[in-house]
Amino acid sequence: MVQTINAITPLDEARAILSQHFDLKFSKAVERATEKVFDRVRDKIPEIEWPFYAPLIFQINQLKREKDAVILAHNYQTPQIYHGVADIVGDSLQLAVEATKVRQQVIVQCGVHFMAETSKLLNPDKTVLIPDSRAGCSLAESITADDVLMMKEKYPGVPVVTYVNTSAAVKAVTDVCCTSSNALDIVNRVDGDTVIMIPDQYLAQNTAKKTAKKVITWAGACEVHETFTAEDISELRHAYPTAKIIAHPECPPEVIDAVDFAGSTAAMIDWVKTNKPPRVVMVTECSMSDNVASETTGVDFLRGCNICPHMKRINLENVLWSLHTMTEEVLVDPAIIPAARLAVERMIEMSRKGD
Ligand code: 13P
Ligand code: SF4
Repeated sequence: MVQTINAITPLDEARAILSQHFDLKFSKAVERATEKVFDRVRDKIPEIEWPFYAPLIFQINQLKREKDAVILAHNYQTPQIYHGVADIVGDSLQLAVEATKVRQQVIVQCGVHFMAETSKLLNPDKTVLIPDSRAGCSLAESITADDVLMMKEKYPGVPVVTYVNTSAAVKAVTDVCCTSSNALDIVNRVDGDTVIMIPDQYLAQNTAKKTAKKVITWAGACEVHETFTAEDISELRHAYPTAKIIAHPECPPEVIDAVDFAGSTAAMIDWVKTNKPPRVVMVTECSMSDNVASETTGVDFLRGCNICPHMKRINLENVLWSLHTMTEEVLVDPAIIPAARLAVERMIEMSRKGD
């Protein structure tokens, strides 16, 4: 049987497999090489657990150099990935922009599948790996290329703005992509007074409130953000009267209306670092506040978050396994690469003009 390690491989089994290939002892050399990382995560990772993480971090960082690999990690990855092994961290737009500048031959995407596909679209000649290809996204699952073609038929000539949280096949039949950090800008810049904005109904509704254009939506939603309610926000206000509450625009409009700031994951991080509120609740995925807490002093991060099960499929064990075995490789049908890539490149170009 072919050995494999993914998010559901029990940790002791994964470690047993990895131990056949790597020295996973917490030696003095490993302790020294990882002490700066531990300084950044010590508030989030108990000292007693560090001997389990440190050897994996050490081996991954060594293997990256040997394999000429770079690790792109989304802001929702765990602190041990975000601070321990990632070369580039960011929101979806930042990761896409950075993917255009990568000089290494191998990209390991610590994030979900659509993010790895975006990296592949922008680097068709490089090897793009995802440590667990089942790391999906409820938004990407909510719409197919045929659905988009059907909408185009229903609304002929109306530009289609597609959230990057979609498959390459969906991107290939759209005019331009957007992310949560540039959605309003892109909608305002496309031609016409009506726009089809898919598939996140809430991002579309939140954008529609800020633009003069008519926005036609799709019924997709992020399973992590759609569950937050206005009632949750008023409970948080009641529990933490002095705290600022900030949220991701994939939350329903009633939530966005009730918070102090809404923005992409990168915009939320910037907001906290700039405004330095004494207490803050980040209404989004739980790793966000863990990651930013390590980089921000004087801010007390309070809990009001949900976990994305897809993002959490990626762990240090399967990152090391992925680099060791060069699996799982992300491939995109060459027939759709040019059109899908164009939609992403148009977005990057339009975002630059907005600088
Ligand atoms: P960002 O582009 O804001 O990082 O969002 C990506 C995502 O998946 C949020 O749920
Ligand atoms: Fe998809 Fe939501 Fe998870 Fe982001 S948080 S990857 S939008 S399911």
